Amino acid sequence: MSQEAASKSPYRIREDFPILSARRGSKPLVYLDNAATSQKPRQVLQAMEKYYAELNANVHRGVYDLSIEATERYESVRRLVAGFIDAHSWREVVFTRNTTEAINLVAYSYALGKIKRGGKIVFTEMEHHSNIVPWQLISGLKDLKLEAIPITADGYLDLSQIDRFLKDADLLAIVHASNVLGTINPVKKLTKTAKEYGAAVLVDAAQSVPHMPVSFKEIGCDFLAFSGHKMLGPMGVGCLIAREELLESMDPFMGGGEMIREVTLSSSKWNEVPWKFEAGTPSVGDVVGLGAAVEYLKRIGLDWVRRHEEELTETALQELSEIPHLRIIGPESVKDRCGLVSFILADIHPHDLADYLDKTFNIAVRAGHHCAMPLHAKLGLTATTRASFYIYNTREEIHMLAEGLRQALKYFKA
Ligand code: ALA
Repeated sequence: MSQEAASKSPYRIREDFPILSARRGSKPLVYLDNAATSQKPRQVLQAMEKYYAELNANVHRGVYDLSIEATERYESVRRLVAGFIDAHSWREVVFTRNTTEAINLVAYSYALGKIKRGGKIVFTEMEHHSNIVPWQLISGLKDLKLEAIPITADGYLDLSQIDRFLKDADLLAIVHASNVLGTINPVKKLTKTAKEYGAAVLVDAAQSVPHMPVSFKEIGCDFLAFSGHKMLGPMGVGCLIAREELLESMDPFMGGGEMIREVTLSSSKWNEVPWKFEAGTPSVGDVVGLGAAVEYLKRIGLDWVRRHEEELTETALQELSEIPHLRIIGPESVKDRCGLVSFILADIHPHDLADYLDKTFNIAVRAGHHCAMPLHAKLGLTATTRASFYIYNTREEIHMLAEGLRQALKYFKA
């Protein structure tokens, strides 16, 4: 195997992830909860340790060398992320804590400031709570109407009435890849339609950016949000990618140090974008970790990541569909799915099932409503079990999951 091919093998990749070889009990960890958070490679852990050991200082404040170097390091990640996500400029990259904070920033700084009273925000029935609740929080402040595009029985967006939804919309806030159904939505096409009607577009890309090539320019949306911790980086850093002229026109989200140019006791002037939206000391060490994560993903290539997850998902769909009394949620076609499969097994409660898989086989899956209660309500469910994949998962792990589910059926239904 060539070095290039070896570096793209999940078996080789696993060697970079200390947690995957650390034993908890007698069985190896089968980590299938990547949609909740990914594991971190040595390269990310080392970059963060090195930063704190050798470079730690506050950024944008010091005139001494260490602070200048820390600032350069922090800002170099912004340029790296801009290239990775195919933004027009590094000025479009705002560091936040996570996807949720990025969406809240848009809710308070854009929607509340720019949408007229009585305006309309459209999202979908398959949104994560983080793309529903911020809109609910601000709707009452400006009498905003909120509407949700419905889903079909097979887990796609029902676009039959899309013109009705978008014709008087001010903002379309839409998930790129559903964290429950796995559905990959046609965000480029929907952005085009929304723009024809004059609506701004926000894409929640938390489940797409880590797993497939995503281009901000190509989608053509105004805002795109994602988290570092789902893409090999640390918790505590996320990104809002936003069109520069919109950032220029928006008021800050939070006030404090860093985001100002001048302060008097009666008023203040704002810093330039993107710093206008980064109040207070940022998570510099986490941003450095995100940079290492982006480098790692670029080395492997997002095309490979997508292909690998398609193969795993195909295997999972095939093997799980052969298990009696197992119902898979979401699209049948692997091309329309990101790398996750949610399901219910007979009438076993997902929490009991996940607990059994963990205790008996050391398999980690998520169970519950996955922060998507309206979606579960629409499906007539209160909870599902979800297996979600990433670069270090193998076919053997999918076989182990399938075998664990067969055993669970015997255990609970004997
Ligand atoms: N949004 C994450 C998930 O779906 C936490 O698990």
